[in-house]
Amino acid sequence: MIYRQQITVPFEYRVIFTRDLFAPRNAVLAEALAPSKEAARAAVFMDQGMLEHWPELGHRIIRWCEAHPRALRLVAAPMTVAGGEAAKNDITFVQRVTHQFQRFELCRHSYVMAVGGGAVLDAVGLAAAVFHRGLRLLRVPTTVLSQADSGVGVKTGINFDGAKNLIGTFAPPFAVLNDVQFLTTLQPRDWVGGLAEAFKVAVIKDVALLEELERLAPRLVGRDLEAMQRVVERSAVLHLEHIRTSGDPFESGSARPLDFGHWAAHKLEALTNYELRHGEAVAIGIALDLYCAARSGFITSAERDRVCAAIERCGLALWHPVLAKRNQLAGTLAVVAGLEEFRQHLGGALTLALPDGLGRLREVHELPAALIEEAVAWLRERRALAHRPLPVPRRA
Ligand SMILES: NC(=O)c1ccc[n+]([C@@H]2O[C@H](COP(=O)([O-])OP(=O)(O)OC[C@H]3O[C@@H](n4cnc5c(N)ncnc54)[C@H](O)[C@@H]3O)[C@@H](O)[C@H]2O)c1
Ligand SMILES: [Zn+2]
Repeated sequence: MIYRQQITVPFEYRVIFTRDLFAPRNAVLAEALAPSKEAARAAVFMDQGMLEHWPELGHRIIRWCEAHPRALRLVAAPMTVAGGEAAKNDITFVQRVTHQFQRFELCRHSYVMAVGGGAVLDAVGLAAAVFHRGLRLLRVPTTVLSQADSGVGVKTGINFDGAKNLIGTFAPPFAVLNDVQFLTTLQPRDWVGGLAEAFKVAVIKDVALLEELERLAPRLVGRDLEAMQRVVERSAVLHLEHIRTSGDPFESGSARPLDFGHWAAHKLEALTNYELRHGEAVAIGIALDLYCAARSGFITSAERDRVCAAIERCGLALWHPVLAKRNQLAGTLAVVAGLEEFRQHLGGALTLALPDGLGRLREVHELPAALIEEAVAWLRERRALAHRPLPVPRRA
């Protein structure tokens, strides 16, 4: 006998944009929780790099809970965890966070609140997704990249054995709370880095966002918070739409439209030992793929140049010396191995998203190594031209 079993589980979560989330009078967090007669138990984990700029945050969260006694009951004072990619590179991070869950006897009705950049959200999210097979995760993203992209989606993960996101789950959060004020303290490279994800989604899905990025570029590099908020929110909404409407929110198929530019990005991050940040690597990955798309006739070279110029005007570099790195034995560019790693990660046939005109995408199943060689040579040439010394004027 064959018994056909089909289960449909609806997922619903809110993504809230607010200001000063932990001001005692701000009730959006309380409203995002499941209705309950008494306050739910909660553990809070804060990104150390963020906390250096917001040293009062732990106290503010405690005071917020006091002001909303029926919302959350903290099981302990908010805890600090290492921030940045280090959180994802060390599997004991997940172990240590899990140990705290166990120590404070969190259950499937308890909340875990993660406050920080994309790396901390991914790693704490993984621990929360597997402990007792899933706790309620409240994400409070504090970087441009995590508010615009990683923090609003359905994935968790850590790096393992030198490979990016090798261990992870699909686990929608309980709610996401984006407080724009956190962005004011980002280092310059993290302020602009997240814009790469906005370019990614604009190039393949929304030409209006691309135009907005072009128009706002001077304000974005000038750290205009209002301009950044507009771009972050639009990018997040495009992500949410994709997850809701693509028909494959948990990526069971081979297509990964939102991973445009990412096959190279993940490899470049690993090749630089994560010195290159995710957003910085995505910017370069986009440029490589734009070159391949133009050479394949999917976009014009003018469109390719237009996007590259806009990315650079936002303060992102499109060259890194690791692009020139070669495998000693085969002599091939090291970045090319990213294609095969990406295929393995997706499973099945290699499927890459490239723009098909600006604002639309098409899938391809191959990128010849020779084309990637050309793309890298092109980026190197562009960089050399940009850094060419100005000609010395001759005396008459
Ligand atoms: N889950 C997903 O779907 C998904 C999607 C895209 C990217 N990602 C992952 O996200 C990660 C990158 O996230 P990121 O760009 O946020 O970088 P990040 O988490 O590495 O943070 C960058 C730095 O900023 C610090 N920081 C955080 N908030 C701050 C603040 N408000 N002020 C000052 N400093 C602050 C952190 O401590 C860290 O040192 C990568 O690991 C990437 O793989 C995940
Ligand atoms: Zn990304």
